Amino acid sequence: MKNSLLLYLAASTSAAVTPRDPSTSESTDFTALSLFWDYGRSPPVYPSPKGVGTSEGWADAYKAAASMVAKMTNEEKANITTGATHPNNGCAGWAPPVERVGFPGMCMQGSGSGLRPTELVTSYAAPISIAASWNDDLAFRTGFHRGLEYEAKGVNVALEPVCGPVGRIAENGRNWEGYGSDPYLAGQMNYQTIKGIQNRGTVSACVKHFIAYEQETNRFPIGHNESVSSNVDDQTMHELYLWPFMDAMKAESGSVMCSYNRINNSYACQNSKTMNGLLKTELGFEGFVISDWEALHAGYEAADAGLDMVMPSSGGFWGTNLSLAVTNGSFSQERLDDMATRIVAVWNKFGSIPNPGHGDPPTVDWSLPHNHTNAMSHASQDTVFQGALEGHVLVKNVNNALPLKNPTVLSLYGYDAIPPAVVDPASGVKWLFGYESINSSETVAQLYISGYWSNGTNIWPNGPRAGYEGTLITGGGSSTSNPPWIVSPYAAFAQQAREDLTMLSWNFKDQDPGVMGGSDACIVFINEFASEGFDRSGLADPWSDELVRNVASKCDNTMVVIHNAGIRVVDAWIDHPNITAVILAHLPGQEAGKTLVDLMYGKTSPSGRLPYTIPKKESDFGHLLEPTHADGSSQYHTQANFTEGVYIDYKHFIKNNIAPRYEFGYGLTYSSFTYSNMEITHRDDIVPSFVDAYKGTVETANSKDNATSDDTTGERLPWGGAAPLWDNVAEVTMEVANVGEMAAAEVVQLYVGIPGAPEKQLRGYKKKMLDVGQKVQLQFQLTRRDLSVWNSKKQGWDLQRGTYKIYLGRSVLDIPLEGRLEVR
Ligand SMILES: *[C@@H]1O[C@H](CO)[C@@H](O)[C@H](O)[C@H]1NC(C)=O
Ligand SMILES: *[C@@H]1O[C@H](CO)[C@@H](O)[C@H](O)[C@H]1NC(C)=O
Ligand SMILES: *[C@@H]1O[C@H](CO)[C@@H](O)[C@H](O)[C@H]1NC(C)=O
Ligand SMILES: *[C@@H]1O[C@H](CO)[C@@H](O)[C@H](O)[C@H]1NC(C)=O
Ligand SMILES: *[C@@H]1O[C@H](CO)[C@@H](O)[C@H](O)[C@H]1NC(C)=O
Ligand SMILES: *[C@@H]1O[C@H](CO)[C@@H](O)[C@H](O)[C@H]1NC(C)=O
Ligand SMILES: *[C@@H]1O[C@H](CO)[C@@H](O)[C@H](O)[C@H]1NC(C)=O
Ligand SMILES: *[C@@H]1O[C@H](CO)[C@@H](O)[C@H](O)[C@H]1NC(C)=O
Ligand SMILES: *[C@@H]1O[C@H](CO)[C@@H](O)[C@H](O)[C@H]1NC(C)=O
Ligand SMILES: *[C@@H]1O[C@H](CO)[C@@H](O)[C@H](O)[C@H]1NC(C)=O
Ligand SMILES: *[C@@H]1O[C@H](CO)[C@@H](O)[C@H](O)[C@H]1NC(C)=O
Repeated sequence: MKNSLLLYLAASTSAAVTPRDPSTSESTDFTALSLFWDYGRSPPVYPSPKGVGTSEGWADAYKAAASMVAKMTNEEKANITTGATHPNNGCAGWAPPVERVGFPGMCMQGSGSGLRPTELVTSYAAPISIAASWNDDLAFRTGFHRGLEYEAKGVNVALEPVCGPVGRIAENGRNWEGYGSDPYLAGQMNYQTIKGIQNRGTVSACVKHFIAYEQETNRFPIGHNESVSSNVDDQTMHELYLWPFMDAMKAESGSVMCSYNRINNSYACQNSKTMNGLLKTELGFEGFVISDWEALHAGYEAADAGLDMVMPSSGGFWGTNLSLAVTNGSFSQERLDDMATRIVAVWNKFGSIPNPGHGDPPTVDWSLPHNHTNAMSHASQDTVFQGALEGHVLVKNVNNALPLKNPTVLSLYGYDAIPPAVVDPASGVKWLFGYESINSSETVAQLYISGYWSNGTNIWPNGPRAGYEGTLITGGGSSTSNPPWIVSPYAAFAQQAREDLTMLSWNFKDQDPGVMGGSDACIVFINEFASEGFDRSGLADPWSDELVRNVASKCDNTMVVIHNAGIRVVDAWIDHPNITAVILAHLPGQEAGKTLVDLMYGKTSPSGRLPYTIPKKESDFGHLLEPTHADGSSQYHTQANFTEGVYIDYKHFIKNNIAPRYEFGYGLTYSSFTYSNMEITHRDDIVPSFVDAYKGTVETANSKDNATSDDTTGERLPWGGAAPLWDNVAEVTMEVANVGEMAAAEVVQLYVGIPGAPEKQLRGYKKKMLDVGQKVQLQFQLTRRDLSVWNSKKQGWDLQRGTYKIYLGRSVLDIPLEGRLEVR
């Protein structure tokens, strides 16, 4: 430990030596190019910190692991670090057993919207929906119930949740897999989800993707082209990209997955600064790091940099070569032991599921007879429903067009109202990757998927914009879900019509349908697709926009529902006078239709809020709209320079004075709320202070003695990093009252203006259900971290001297209450 700190300091203070640029134009000297670009640009941090289990709750797991690993040969130790395929289970990742010593192997399976690819599991609302709920308890419960399903299937490690991408690039195909475009919201949601998954002590989470993984384009090396490099300065790294991972570490996620991209030109799965430095030293991580699938590009060097397990196979690098490298002296015995010990410790800590992978038949041929393990549970259904419900965001509602009031005739339009014609495990890749709604021949979808998994080539350069073959309940790729059923919008509206004796008329086929005269309302269902493997080619689908305009031109009470897997621009029609209501329905999973009907008929008030910004036009995102593409200037080593610092999403809009269409945090309900009686109190000793991220100490400028936190041993930092960062140092209280005519939930948001930092940063939120006339007091705790900025020079967090602005709002722009906190 001490050694690694010293080495780190030495490395970061000496200037990196970068070889001379071999060429200014197109060079074909690939070795020289590689030397120039790939080396010496990310600080070396060695050796890899040893996992010792000092933190409370880990000591026993480590003790047992050490004694089990002591009985293993080096070949066996290397074997459990290296993914393999199990002949009789369908685990996406399989760490082989060492039966001789009682280690049965470990099964890894995703993902954040439901288990996949497997049968008899639940399709949950996707993380973007959970983020839109702004409901911490719901995030916890969703994680908890999914945890039960992992357990039922014999999964040891759940390949979720997602902290990265954080949402730097608006078109990123994977933003929906995470929890919105703000690090605080994402951090809270990841924390709760991990606590939920790990609650029973049976399943470990694997938070991903570490780190600065912000685009799909060029995520894989192709030919001589290396993966895109995210070039991020240290302060931005801490305040934006690492922030949610701190919360994930605070929640003690047993595993972390490193990402496909490079950081400062060094691959994420062999970057010693990020794995040894940030994760295993600064954040006290004592679990194991697992490579994203096919993300390993080196042998023992990657292990030295902090990688502990490679998936889904040796990649032609690890396995027996690791033990060989110990034998021939290139690789240390200590590191190999540490890797195996970390893996076995996590296995010990999380209940040692007997017969791992037992409920998960091989996915190779679902058409053959096989035994079924039903992981679904009646006890989970309320949570599943609530997750879908609260992820809907009502953004427009003219003259209370919603809720619907005993309609006589309702007209329904759009391809998204009905389920896809085929949802069947035996149908192949469409089911595997959640492409059932995609309007394409099977062949194109298969080509696309095999292409992107094998080499990342954009066979389908513009990707599918929308799922014209049916309602979109989830996104595509490895965080999709495999629904046991889908309650489609049409099915739910028909059920309601049956109760009320409403007549429905519908046309789910045409772009310019006829409209039945005298319809009480015309509801248009469209969607916006996104998937792992490619970035979107825009933020709106023109075909669907035309459909909406066509219906609106014939119906003066047109409502639009969008199942959107990402930011959806609506300006092609939002001001149309006949469009009276718009719902961003996100990705609700199997309960899509029923939850929508509950909201539109007013059985429940909408309560979701946008976890990102919707601009008036795509170009308002500036260089944060599109991914960085390979070009001649990057010399086969695509460079994504994160020059905007922390100013992504709403911070970008506020800084550049751009008015959005719908701002971060925005969303309507059927009721209205007043905010009052804001009070700000703080700890007596709130003074400028510095938390040393590597010593774990806090130094205060005005106090007599600079405290060392009790939790800090000096040898190793606790999970989540320096303990004083998590102290509550200030409290904000306020009262919120429901002054409308319907019970509804309000989301009160707290933003802070730290001196010298962005004008507003989210630092708290509370969701509260209130009856008509009910008034409650809400309390927000602010931690030292919440009020600090990263000091790159001193490697720690500074609580600033000066005036902090505190805002309580309905969104980042709608701020009824404002106060100040003086730090002197
Ligand atoms: C990347 O480079 C920047 C600028 O030199 C530096 O601040 C940062 O710490 C580096 N991060 C990593 C992970 O290499
Ligand atoms: C390594 O794992 C494979 C299964 O992937 C197994 O066949 C082999 O026997 C194992 N080798 C050792 C040394 O444990
Ligand atoms: C070991 O390294 C050799 C040479 O690079 C490679 O061909 C082989 O596939 C590697 N073995 C494993 C199990 O990865
Ligand atoms: C030791 O073994 C590893 C793995 O096979 C190999 O990559 C490395 O080149 C070897 N080193 C020496 C000095 O033979
Ligand atoms: C199903 O399970 C039973 C009992 O464990 C077993 O005998 C049978 O071989 C299994 N069938 C298949 C198709 O796996
Ligand atoms: C969807 O595919 C069908 C052919 O299967 C085609 O006729 C139709 O135009 C497509 N729809 C859209 C909106 O592209
Ligand atoms: C990538 O894979 C696709 C489909 O397997 C193949 O057609 C294409 O040639 C490959 N491209 C490269 C650069 O390897
Ligand atoms: C609104 O709908 C009515 C039909 O109800 C139609 O006559 C009118 O032209 C529409 N308005 C616009 C601006 O399209
Ligand atoms: C590879 O890099 C070159 C040079 O930067 C670029 O022109 C080309 O488009 C890249 N190819 C791919 C498949 O990204
Ligand atoms: C990224 O930053 C590097 C180093 O400052 C610079 O050489 C390069 O031109 C930048 N690339 C782009 C695309 O701005
Ligand atoms: C406490 O820390 C502050 C700020 O780093 C420093 O100025 C002061 O001298 C320290 N006080 C003691 C008693 O060490």
